[in-house]
Amino acid sequence: MKAIVLTEPGGIENLTITEIERPAIQKDEVLVKVKAISLNPVDVKSRSGKGVYGRIKEGKPLILGWDISGEVTQVGEDVTSFKPGDEVFGMVNFPGHGKAYAEYVAAPANHLAIKPTKISHAEAAAATLANLTAWQVLVQQAHLKTGQRVLIHAAAGGVGHFAVQIAKHYGATVIGTASAANADFLKNIGVDEHLDYTQTNFETAAHNIDIVLDPLGGDNTRKSLEVLKAGGYLISIVGGVTEEIKNLAEQKGISAANYLVQSSGSDMEQLAQLLQSGEIKAHVYQEYPFENIGEAHQQVETAKTRGKVVVLVD
Ligand SMILES: NC(=O)c1ccc[n+]([C@@H]2O[C@H](COP(=O)([O-])OP(=O)(O)OC[C@H]3O[C@@H](n4cnc5c(N)ncnc54)[C@H](OP(=O)(O)O)[C@@H]3O)[C@@H](O)[C@H]2O)c1
Repeated sequence: MKAIVLTEPGGIENLTITEIERPAIQKDEVLVKVKAISLNPVDVKSRSGKGVYGRIKEGKPLILGWDISGEVTQVGEDVTSFKPGDEVFGMVNFPGHGKAYAEYVAAPANHLAIKPTKISHAEAAAATLANLTAWQVLVQQAHLKTGQRVLIHAAAGGVGHFAVQIAKHYGATVIGTASAANADFLKNIGVDEHLDYTQTNFETAAHNIDIVLDPLGGDNTRKSLEVLKAGGYLISIVGGVTEEIKNLAEQKGISAANYLVQSSGSDMEQLAQLLQSGEIKAHVYQEYPFENIGEAHQQVETAKTRGKVVVLVD
């Protein structure tokens, strides 16, 4: 099968299309013939030796990627949830060896769910890591409730655009930051109040917030404490909550934590229902052919992607 191997950490020239053996599956895994992959900033960071590179560097050949949608071709002897021919999607083995940049991926059955029939493989692949992150942060970590006020930074990005839609599904009021170019997009996905971060200081414009989702870090995390009410929740997905921030938060009666998304088939099943009903939609900004995966990395590196970048395998 064809796979994109990372020869060594560095630039996109180190992503090499290579012919390798199909992976063998374990008892609890299924073999998925991949139709579409989605990319995340962690793919780009890991390619250059950061991100989760340290956790996967021993994997030979080293193959990046976690987000897939495709068709099951083989099931391990302990797998009862899927059969060959099932169309599935999910985030495989994050933050470990997903090895998604390949025609076939060996995936633990309990990291996958049946792909919603009403969406394409590209949309399904797009609705995995970023969607799971938004779900796990808002619903499982911050226990989002109807009527709460949620501030979502980088609301037009991969995580942000799912977070907005999940928060609206739960009946929250959503304030989202993005540049002016994304004003209409934010409105279309349900943002109640758009703050253009190039013109407005969010820490003075937003107030009385219950939950902040922080995908930016640095000063953004610190300033987010100013808009939260006592009893509120600050959650950073880029390690923005340092000991110092945690202490400041405690003084204000705010909970503050960092979070790293985890693979989960049961979470994917819940998200699949929302995707099937149309309550959540993946916005696919651009699709690339498998052999042009380097260009897809370059798009993610711009940090200007609206929604998700997808690579079509088949
Ligand atoms: N811990 C975890 O589990 C986890 C999971 C997923 C992602 N992450 C991390 O979270 C970060 C975001 O991921 P992502 O997939 O959402 O990224 P992304 O899709 O690449 O984000 C792109 C978006 O960021 C917006 N943006 C850039 N600078 C901004 C600023 N200063 N203020 C507001 N918006 C800004 C852009 O909007 P404009 O064009 O309008 O500027 C663009 O739409 C990454 O660092 C990623 O590695 C962590």
